[in-house]
Amino acid sequence: MASSYDQAEEVSNPDTGAGAPGEPPEAPRAAIWENLITLNSDVEPNFDLLPPAHTHLDSDGRKNEWRDLNYVEALKRDQLPLPAIEDREGYYGEDHFSYWASGLLDARYLIEAAEQYGTGTGSYLDLGCASGRVLRHMAYECPNIEATGCDINRLHVEWCNAHLPRNCKTFQNNSVPTLPLEDNSVDIVSAFSVFTHIEALETAWLAEIRRVLKPGGIAWLTVHTEGTLKDMDEGWPLWKPTMEHPDTPSLLDTKREFKGNRMVLRWLSDRSYSSNVFYKSDYLVSRWSRILEHIELRRRFPTFQDVMLMRKPRR
Ligand SMILES: C[S@@+](CC[C@H](N)C(=O)[O-])C[C@H]1O[C@@H](n2cnc3c(N)ncnc32)[C@H](O)[C@@H]1O
Repeated sequence: MASSYDQAEEVSNPDTGAGAPGEPPEAPRAAIWENLITLNSDVEPNFDLLPPAHTHLDSDGRKNEWRDLNYVEALKRDQLPLPAIEDREGYYGEDHFSYWASGLLDARYLIEAAEQYGTGTGSYLDLGCASGRVLRHMAYECPNIEATGCDINRLHVEWCNAHLPRNCKTFQNNSVPTLPLEDNSVDIVSAFSVFTHIEALETAWLAEIRRVLKPGGIAWLTVHTEGTLKDMDEGWPLWKPTMEHPDTPSLLDTKREFKGNRMVLRWLSDRSYSSNVFYKSDYLVSRWSRILEHIELRRRFPTFQDVMLMRKPRR
């Protein structure tokens, strides 16, 4: 059987002219197995940056939704560019201010939960951070925080490392649940809309989160549940992918209920995730709490998804 290195050479040689007489051979493109568990490992970043959030306030179709978010100071201090729609997982479409404001709201809820449950805000990890929708705000709201993000998609990591506040750092992880972080080192872990796409190894991810959390540290993990399925209507972003998926008719009954603990709708996709996952809330509470202590399951909080709020036991 060919080794990974052999395969790398086979891929790089034929059409490139590499290795022509007298020329130094081109470095082989890495066709290595790790590329299958990370994403965009060989794509060069080419970002179209958007100007800072305040420049989008007037043109934002949803700005009234943020009336109660006390954002004026935050908007003034954040002069960094925003990611273009395609570099932020499509969040909020043309409503760029709303994209920014949604991250601020989520960051504030995280900080509030940390206060409520007596956890520090010295260190934070956002698993599946994309281009830092929440991470940027955690860094501004808590200037002394060590704010770390990670994502399976290298382009997101490149974006964050180039454009987020200085107290943020970001690394690329892979789909095997292992993080290059010390045991007991993080106060707060969040994963916004990540477990909604993790179709395998979900409990191993929980164990890895538990390992890196400090005793008493909290995890904020957003999920889709049977409640999400019941609530959905045509206005929800998840409506189309769920209702148009070819497996849906055989998995959901007429009351939109599914059998078993999880429903996974898989896609063929070149994105960094390729499924939508729904859980039964009983399963979340009983099974996930074997790994982390269950504190709350917040329904539809603050918008479409539910939040599993969990804690690493103090001892
Ligand atoms: C729906 S997006 C949410 C992005 C971000 N958390 C937010 O709320 O704006 C899901 C993100 O999770 C990332 N992702 C999917 N599976 C992952 C995994 N196993 N580890 C880390 N990131 C993952 C994707 O690359 C993508 O950036």
